[in-house]
Amino acid sequence: MNTIKVWDPFVRIGHWLLAGGFLVAYLSGDEWMDIHIWAGYLVFGVVVFRIMWGAVGTPPARFRSFLRPISAVKRHMLQLLRLNPPAYAGHNPAGGWMVVALLLTLLLVTLSGIATLGTEGAGPLAGTAIAAFLGEEGWEEVHEVLTNLALVLVAVHIAGVAVESFFTGENLPKSMVTGIKEIHTREKS
Ligand code: HEM
Repeated sequence: MNTIKVWDPFVRIGHWLLAGGFLVAYLSGDEWMDIHIWAGYLVFGVVVFRIMWGAVGTPPARFRSFLRPISAVKRHMLQLLRLNPPAYAGHNPAGGWMVVALLLTLLLVTLSGIATLGTEGAGPLAGTAIAAFLGEEGWEEVHEVLTNLALVLVAVHIAGVAVESFFTGENLPKSMVTGIKEIHTREKS
């Protein structure tokens, strides 16, 4: 067995800031608006950075290195159903699309939060046509629906990480801390 460096520090620090920021924003949502807003801006900043890093970052961080055709996703899911998924050096085909779903949903969650703030006369969208477009109740509703979608995706993401770690024998959360993956014989690039 060999080890390789996969996740660069931006990916790793970004991931845990994103996970922490999302948790804090979710828990503070109803009562601590100041904390909620700053945690939301943190999530927004990390997501925007990660999307740009997906274009110009280190090879395993680039979208084009882990976004594979739907046929590869199907194949991976079938292998998973047979309880025998191969390990990948980067994101597996299903995980790769989950990364995109998470990033886009979190982008929309935070943008709708900024629009809601704008309807209350605060933040960068205060007094703009975008804030007026749906009004306070409308943007709040959109923000809540998208947040619920993000919660579902996060739950599926964490379950996926646990299942893949179990069946491939890899400790994926540890790799997201250290950046290092252990290469097994059935590893794919
Ligand atoms: C206990 C909680 C969590 C654990 C253990 C965890 C673990 C992981 C692991 C192991 C990966 C890499 C998967 C792979 O090897 O392909 C990953 C990727 C990712 N996770 Fe999580 N995660 C957690 C929570 C979250 C939350 C709450 C979010 C979003 C709000 C999130 C968003 C992401 C994203 C966007 C990626 C892609 C990383 C990148 O390529 O930059 N995760 N996570």
